[in-house]
Amino acid sequence: MTLLDLTHIAKSYGRTAALADASIDILPGEVHALMGENGAGKSTFIKVLAGIVKSDRGEIRFQGKLATIDNPQDAFDLGFRFIHQELNVVPQISVAENIAIGGPYPTRFGAMVNWRELNRRARAALARLGIDTIDPRTKISRLSAGDQMLVKIAGTLSDTGNPACLFVMDEPTASLTGEESERLFKVIAELKSAGASVLYVSHRMDEVMQICDRVTVFRDGRFVETKRTNDTDKDEIIRFMTGRDVKDVYPERTFDLEEHLVCRAQDVSTRRIRGLSFNLRKGEVLGIGGLSNAGQSEVMQALMGLDRILEGTLKISGKAAPQNPATAWEGGIAYVPRERRREGLMLTRSILQNTVLPHLRHLSRLLGVVNRRSERDMTQRVADIVRLKADSLKQPCYQLSGGNQQKVVFARAVGASLNLLLLDEPTRGVDVGAKFDIYTLVRELSARGCGVVLTSSDLPELLGMCDRILIMQDGRQTEIVETRDLDPHGLLSRFYAA
Ligand SMILES: Nc1ncnc2c1ncn2[C@@H]1O[C@H](COP(=O)(O)OP(=O)(O)OP(=O)(O)O)[C@@H](O)[C@H]1O
Ligand SMILES: [Mg+2]
Repeated sequence: MTLLDLTHIAKSYGRTAALADASIDILPGEVHALMGENGAGKSTFIKVLAGIVKSDRGEIRFQGKLATIDNPQDAFDLGFRFIHQELNVVPQISVAENIAIGGPYPTRFGAMVNWRELNRRARAALARLGIDTIDPRTKISRLSAGDQMLVKIAGTLSDTGNPACLFVMDEPTASLTGEESERLFKVIAELKSAGASVLYVSHRMDEVMQICDRVTVFRDGRFVETKRTNDTDKDEIIRFMTGRDVKDVYPERTFDLEEHLVCRAQDVSTRRIRGLSFNLRKGEVLGIGGLSNAGQSEVMQALMGLDRILEGTLKISGKAAPQNPATAWEGGIAYVPRERRREGLMLTRSILQNTVLPHLRHLSRLLGVVNRRSERDMTQRVADIVRLKADSLKQPCYQLSGGNQQKVVFARAVGASLNLLLLDEPTRGVDVGAKFDIYTLVRELSARGCGVVLTSSDLPELLGMCDRILIMQDGRQTEIVETRDLDPHGLLSRFYAA
């Protein structure tokens, strides 16, 4: 018998049908992937199951019997645990309290909270993920996005006295490193062998094929297909998702590099990195590689004027390095940060406001006054290129799906006239179709002479897009390698090389 059936679920926001006719069946003890392009309705579907969003139509059956889920407590009582896509932690309170939020607080004397027990449970939950470096008493807002995600995952594993039968994870690996993802996969395997089911959302094909038993695909809020992962392949899933053939390749460079330099770093040190030395030519794509947290993002921050240069010289377009992000923007340097939802977006503002704001000064200088038409044309052009799915450019960003929010930040960066583009994990959370479009756009920009610096935890992406890769180890540059003749395995071994 199935554990859970959701059938013909529909949900509209005004004229937008987030879900039109979505169904899935989940078996006991299986890991079931839910896939679809950005905006296909995956997160909305999960929110219906979680009792956060009320569906307009459709029914939910639990172990064959009709179930009503009107609020999060109903879902919790049925044994469902959720890791939502947004980092919905409570920033002002501790790690342990965030972990306990899923269930009732342990009390010792009636209403008094038993802090020792709370911290013990939190530590035990984190230990299941192999983590002993996060202190349960830390305020959660002080942790990185990756660590916050681990705390959220731990929260669903914490023993609440109410056994769980279904874990729903909406892009849990999007902000995790490779090692952390592997640990999560081990926990998923344990949950599965204990008889629980997992509903798993991800845009990463390889991990879906590796850990999932079956996959269901949605397109435009509708059910398309359910298949066993053993009976399908990546190409077929991509066809179900997009309705077209998307090339799973990296577009080739079609021009020769110019001799002119965009950027020149000589033995640069900041508080967090040492010994950065490289030349970046016009049109060149330089990768920054290394194990997790080896200093990749810190290199970006130095180039963007977010970190003071303590030693060495850094010149961009012949001028001294920017002192702050504002002068960086003015000098034609754009940055797509890794943690886009946190650092990159004003969620209550519209797409237009988010994309045009940093360019206002530039536009008004060029045109004398800000020309609304040209703002809109520019934004629309980039929005089309990245296949932004939105009702209008005036739509507030909180209404967009996770992946589409990422695309807004990307659109803002490439909307300017650029000398240097800094991309920190640019395709994280972005669907396969849009990934290829982003790669094509990067090639277009470099053909116009823009230099690009790119980090990615996806090794094929680094190799496919970069001319050379600068390798960081513990905040120090170790070497620069040519990507020609290098495969992922060879690249990885350079990350460990002393
Ligand atoms: N509160 C809302 N108001 C208006 N539209 C919304 C709202 N929430 C979601 N939508 C729309 O519903 C559609 C489905 O969004 P959803 O977040 O479910 O997509 P998704 O499949 O999770 O995408 P992603 O892979 O990018 O996370 C999108 O077009 C989105 O803009
Ligand atoms: Mg989503």
